[in-house]
Amino acid sequence: MNAKARNLLRIPGSKSRQIDQRRQEFVPRCISSGSAVYAATASGSEITDVDGNRLIDFTGGWGCMAVGHTSLEVVAAICDQARNFTHTDFSVVPYASYVDLAERLALLAPCPEPAQVALFNSGAEAIENAVKIARKHTDRRAIIVFSGAFHGRTHMAMTMTHQESPYKSGFGPFASEVYRASYPNPYRSDCRFQRFEDEVAAQVELSEVAAIVIEPIQGEGGFTVAPSEFLQSLRRYADQIGAMLVADEIQSGFGRTGKFFAVEHSKVSPDIITVGKSIAAGLPLSAVVASRSVFASLDSGALGGTYVGNPIACRAALEVLSTIERDGLLDRASHIGRIISKRFARMRGSYECIGDVRGVGAMLAMEFVRSKSSKEPYPELCAKVIAESLARGLVIAGAGYDKNVVRMLLPLTTPEELLLEGLDILEKSVDVAHGDV
Ligand SMILES: Cc1ncc(COP(=O)(O)O)c(C=O)c1O
Repeated sequence: MNAKARNLLRIPGSKSRQIDQRRQEFVPRCISSGSAVYAATASGSEITDVDGNRLIDFTGGWGCMAVGHTSLEVVAAICDQARNFTHTDFSVVPYASYVDLAERLALLAPCPEPAQVALFNSGAEAIENAVKIARKHTDRRAIIVFSGAFHGRTHMAMTMTHQESPYKSGFGPFASEVYRASYPNPYRSDCRFQRFEDEVAAQVELSEVAAIVIEPIQGEGGFTVAPSEFLQSLRRYADQIGAMLVADEIQSGFGRTGKFFAVEHSKVSPDIITVGKSIAAGLPLSAVVASRSVFASLDSGALGGTYVGNPIACRAALEVLSTIERDGLLDRASHIGRIISKRFARMRGSYECIGDVRGVGAMLAMEFVRSKSSKEPYPELCAKVIAESLARGLVIAGAGYDKNVVRMLLPLTTPEELLLEGLDILEKSVDVAHGDV
């Protein structure tokens, strides 16, 4: 389907509208969706809705589909495992695929010492467990997090997340011993490490800090990239004060930046890494990777859960890893990243409303502002661009503390032709939205 045909899409179509009516009745509005289009099938970087509309997917299910939708190998592994067994509970009768996946992740992770891996279900659960591990290992309580951070929606993860609405508003009381420092934002703020040190020292006794948890590139926060020097200083600082450095790679990991983990670009070795999203092509799976000496502090049975490391999800994850390696998806992330960067840079030159374009590899975003000089966030324009894109057949995700960023979370397998078609739609949408708002 070419761009012209996509202009004729009827979104949402009548079948989607019918489902949506029932949804209004039976699904609470706190469970929201970015569109009223209901998926029927998906393949590669395209989703077909129940009315037969084909959409280019630049969200990859919030960054879960690095290898694309319904990859043949992943689907085959899922079906094979489902025929063998769907669940025994690893804590009752274990299975090899958990161990195989742990081995592969441990060997890939840039930890300072040989690593081990514990599997969980969601990103938030990985974060909760990373905090438990750091506290137990250090016998300390305080956790340092950053402005603009998103770490999930469970109690501790929600506390660590920054944005009040909709993630925290009315959901208190929050967990204690969480302290926040400013995330270094090269576009908007001071990135000096001294500022971080001052902010932390003003809030908490350094000998009480168990962990500093940072997204090397913020996800929900708008793809702000922590400068390498900042991450390197953070590593030294954590060592000096005896705290664990935790890299939340749930969004930035698994190849999106052109390396398996975003911290590798800065040559920083975190003590603990959380992994999720693209790890298992959308099946619920996450991981905490940490040095063996760190895990050694925890008693047998201290961590776990009924569904953690589900065998179908483990098989899918093993296939995702093989696909990334076999199909050279790290190089491909860099390649498609270059195409997107070039287009975004050109668009920034043409539109006063695009203040910043940033990111690493294929993890790229553009930030909308009222003018380049004021840098005042322009969330209304961003919302309009996302809506215009959808009407033209492109699903794209927003981000940013001020909701003024669009981010690229497309499958790394996206063919060039489709990528260019999606970028054309995005550019057209910026053009139309810019004229309208
Ligand atoms: C960096 C980061 N950490 C944690 C999470 C929470 O993951 P989940 O939604 O799987 O709980 C997310 C989700 O977007 C994330 O981007």
